[in-house]
Amino acid sequence: MTIKIIRWAKRSLLRIGIHRALPARKLAKLSYTAYLSKWIRQNRPAFSTFPFNGFDSSLRYKLYDHLMATENLDDAIDYFEFGVAAGQSFKWWESKITHVDAVFHGFDTFTGLPENWGHFKKGDMSSNNEKPSINGTRHHWHQGLFQATLPLFLKDYSGDKRKIIHLDADLFSSTLFVLTSLSPYLKSGDIIMFDEFNVPLDEFKAFKVWVDSYYVEYEVLGEVNNYYQTAIKIK
Ligand SMILES: C[S@@+](CC[C@H](N)C(=O)[O-])C[C@H]1O[C@@H](n2cnc3c(N)ncnc32)[C@H](O)[C@@H]1O
Repeated sequence: MTIKIIRWAKRSLLRIGIHRALPARKLAKLSYTAYLSKWIRQNRPAFSTFPFNGFDSSLRYKLYDHLMATENLDDAIDYFEFGVAAGQSFKWWESKITHVDAVFHGFDTFTGLPENWGHFKKGDMSSNNEKPSINGTRHHWHQGLFQATLPLFLKDYSGDKRKIIHLDADLFSSTLFVLTSLSPYLKSGDIIMFDEFNVPLDEFKAFKVWVDSYYVEYEVLGEVNNYYQTAIKIK
């Protein structure tokens, strides 16, 4: 009987066009904010500023420093950054990890966001087709949509080395694409950093969908700015 009622209710809601009566995106945002709030209560790392009044952009470097000091990262790691723009964070990591066999991969269109994001428009955050200027030969640029460049890169990638994956692409689509693409290559000890983790329908939703779909086991290494910047380690 119950299943019949559920089916009837679903059929009726679809038939009347429930989207005309309910603000689907607003409800989804509220719902993912509730998931995020629950997740935060379940994941309180020792390195944390939560709850934090305001936003301090310098705090993300304190989180990076903490990871450098506690995770032995000055090693022959593979560093990936998805969303490089003018290279602020990329340059930080390239300068702090001095090991000669460390390799740094920067992925970006370098012509800005591929779709609108909040009050940002498609094409915003462009670095005018310019890649950041960095000395040395340890870094590689992969210009274009992740959806085009990452599959090509992965064809010849073994994934044997320890990885730092920095996700700073803002968008749900971009973040989910990268996480699912890199899933088969992840190993225990790999670190994933998010730059806008607490945006409910973008990085957080991508993270939740990915973790739930791939049964990912992880620990949270730290967070700043009310979980805006959050780092996890694969178990
Ligand atoms: C917030 S900016 C990166 C900021 C940079 N990490 C820093 O610290 O200065 C986001 C970047 O993500 C890039 N991006 C987002 N989605 C992308 C996609 N699917 N493919 C390629 N680039 C993408 C945009 O072009 C933009 O440059």
